Amino acid sequence: MATATAVRATPGLPRALDADAEEYQPFPDKARRNLCQETLEVPAMAWALGLAKGGRVLEVGCGRGVALPVLARLLRPQRLVGLDIDRSLLERARERTAGRVGLVELRLGDVRALPFPDASFDLVVDFGTCYHVARREHALREIARVLATGGRFVHETRLSQLLSHPVRSWGRRLPLETVAELAAEKHALLWASCVKRATSCRSR
Ligand SMILES: C[S@@+](CC[C@H](N)C(=O)[O-])C[C@H]1O[C@@H](n2cnc3c(N)ncnc32)[C@H](O)[C@@H]1O
Repeated sequence: MATATAVRATPGLPRALDADAEEYQPFPDKARRNLCQETLEVPAMAWALGLAKGGRVLEVGCGRGVALPVLARLLRPQRLVGLDIDRSLLERARERTAGRVGLVELRLGDVRALPFPDASFDLVVDFGTCYHVARREHALREIARVLATGGRFVHETRLSQLLSHPVRSWGRRLPLETVAELAAEKHALLWASCVKRATSCRSR
């Protein structure tokens, strides 16, 4: 029987999304960085943005799953999914979450072609992934699609990216203005949120 943390494959990621000159390049695994994210960043973000407890939560680009147990503890979600494009990182996330948080589902997939129906989540969290993929507007459109109306998209700000990765982040921004359904909501220095408003699915 599959456990709640088994890595479920998304068969056949679209080829067009696989290769690109501006495509994501992996970051190194730094124990101190992970500890900081676990103990400081995620709790501070949840507090600063006033994240509600109990909803359906998706982390895009969950990588090794550092944030997932913290999100489970702080938000007590009904559903918690970590999605990443890298199968080996998802295996690490599986080890990290096994037996600790029964609710975590891990999914292999691309943030630009999310393997979920419309309106599946109340909260989508991104710790920097959308800044580092090509065709960022596709990722934002997909995030808006899987959010329920009134749901929130939480992401790092440009300042946060520049402090963490000054060279790689230079000139990168999230083209939020291309997705009409996502309305800027809160800004808390290193993190910001958008809310999905009830409009038709047209991009600006
Ligand atoms: C900046 S890391 C963040 C990892 C983790 N969330 C953290 O905070 O430590 C970005 C993650 O996004 C994943 N990623 C890159 N491109 C992706 C894509 N197109 N769709 C989904 N995940 C992607 C990478 O494999 C990596 O784990």
